Amino acid sequence: MNLMNKIYNDKEFMSIATPILTHKEFMKTKQIVHHGSTRYNHSLKVGYSSYKLSKLLGCDFTSALRAGVLHDFFLVRDDKNIVSSAKMFIEHPTLAKENAINYFGVNEKEQNIIESHMFPVSNVIPNSKEAWIVTFCDKIVALFEGATKAKAQISLWMLFLVNFIR
Ligand SMILES: [Fe+2]
Ligand SMILES: [Fe+2]
Repeated sequence: MNLMNKIYNDKEFMSIATPILTHKEFMKTKQIVHHGSTRYNHSLKVGYSSYKLSKLLGCDFTSALRAGVLHDFFLVRDDKNIVSSAKMFIEHPTLAKENAINYFGVNEKEQNIIESHMFPVSNVIPNSKEAWIVTFCDKIVALFEGATKAKAQISLWMLFLVNFIR
C-alpha cells in the first residue's frame, strides 16, 4: 500500500485531520505545486509522520498532527523569482500561523509548532517536543520529495540541534 492510501485508511488520523482536510480554504492547497507534488499532499505527509512519531514517543499527537498538517497553510505560489522566493522561505511560517488561527483556532502550542517549523532558518525556536518532531518530519518529507534545499536545511538543523543539546 502506498503512503497516501495508508494515510487515508488510518481511522484515528483521519478523525482528527478530516475537518482540516475537507475545509474549503485548506483544499485550495491542492492547486499549489510544492516540492514537485502539491502543498496539500506535502502537508498530509508531514502531518501523518508527525502524528506517528509523536505517538511512538508518547507525545501530544493531536497537536503534532494538527500543526503538522497546517505548517505550510499559505496560498502564495512557489515563485521562480529568487528574491521573492527567498522572502517567502522566511515569511511563510508566519502566514501559515495566521491562517491556522483564523480558520482552525489553533492553540498556543500549535502556533509555535507552525511558526518554528523552518528552524533554524526561522528565528522562532521550537518550544515543545511536538515542535521538534514537526520540524524534523518536515525536513525528512521534503528530502524524500526531492526538495533542493532540504539537504542543506537538514545539515543546518542537525548542527544547531547538536549545539543546543550540549
Ligand atoms: Fe514550510
Ligand atoms: Fe513543509
